[in-house]
Amino acid sequence: MQAKLFTPLTLGDLTLPNRVVMAPLTRNRANPDGDVPYAIHAEYYAQRASAGLIITEATQITPEGKGYIQTPGIHSGAQVAGWRQVTQAVHAKGGRIFLQLWHVGRISHVSLQPDGQAPVAPSPIAAEAQTFVASGFADVSPPRALETAEIPRLLEDYRKATENARAAGFDGVELHAANGYLLDQFLRDGTNKRTDAYGGSLENRTRLLAEVLAVITKIYPPKRVGVRFSPFSGFNDIADSDPMATFAAAIARANEAGLGYLHLVEGEMGQSRDLPPEADIAKLRAA
Ligand SMILES: Cc1cc2nc3c(=O)[nH]c(=O)nc-3n(C[C@H](O)[C@H](O)[C@H](O)COP(=O)(O)O)c2cc1C
Repeated sequence: MQAKLFTPLTLGDLTLPNRVVMAPLTRNRANPDGDVPYAIHAEYYAQRASAGLIITEATQITPEGKGYIQTPGIHSGAQVAGWRQVTQAVHAKGGRIFLQLWHVGRISHVSLQPDGQAPVAPSPIAAEAQTFVASGFADVSPPRALETAEIPRLLEDYRKATENARAAGFDGVELHAANGYLLDQFLRDGTNKRTDAYGGSLENRTRLLAEVLAVITKIYPPKRVGVRFSPFSGFNDIADSDPMATFAAAIARANEAGLGYLHLVEGEMGQSRDLPPEADIAKLRAA
């Protein structure tokens, strides 16, 4: 009997020839001059083109969204050209590839930020977390809160990045809303203490996610878009008083957007899959 793993799977209008999906994995190999992906990225991803689907390493939508040394971006012309080499190499081998759209929020360091500015976050609360910079591991820098008036600019950054992904030839995009980065910081009440329309109630904490998804799904058909959450992970010093309620609300937003798939980190990022007693991944998936 043929193993199910090697049978096709329908994802919107795409047929994945098998059910092996390559997880997004940061490699820190972008050209330091402009955070540009280049020939080694094309080789690396083309080597993995027999997967049903590849999700790329997390890729910053804007210089402000960068949190680690030598991660690639999708905000400059050189980056689009670099990623085009990657998508062409994967397609030439018969593969499919989605780009993971990333903004790290407070998980950054001033040495990685434009003009040495403080990183941005929903609220000015520093994470007890580390990143890696030119000199090695370093504590992340204290962030400043995004002004309400800056949200349209942030949405514009997501819009441009998604257009760039399409121009670079990606088959779709995955929105990174996991692992304690910006969108996760907005979702959870441990990091989101805002008093404007983006903080407080679940409707407010999931608003930025919904607005970003609305922007992205105007560029890619919703079935070519996925979203990633890590409801029960504390990675990057993230916490929530009621993750079941928070992520049921977040998943409801993803459902409203009609997305192609939901991607969950089931346990602690890169560690145990043991869950707290109140956690029920199956219930969340069924939402
Ligand atoms: C070195 C490394 C880099 C990673 N980079 C990303 C990333 O860019 N985006 C993402 O969503 N997850 C990233 N992850 C998380 C993995 O995709 C995966 O969810 C995690 O390793 C848990 O799976 P595992 O328990 O099988 O290792 C990374 C993990 C590791 C170890």
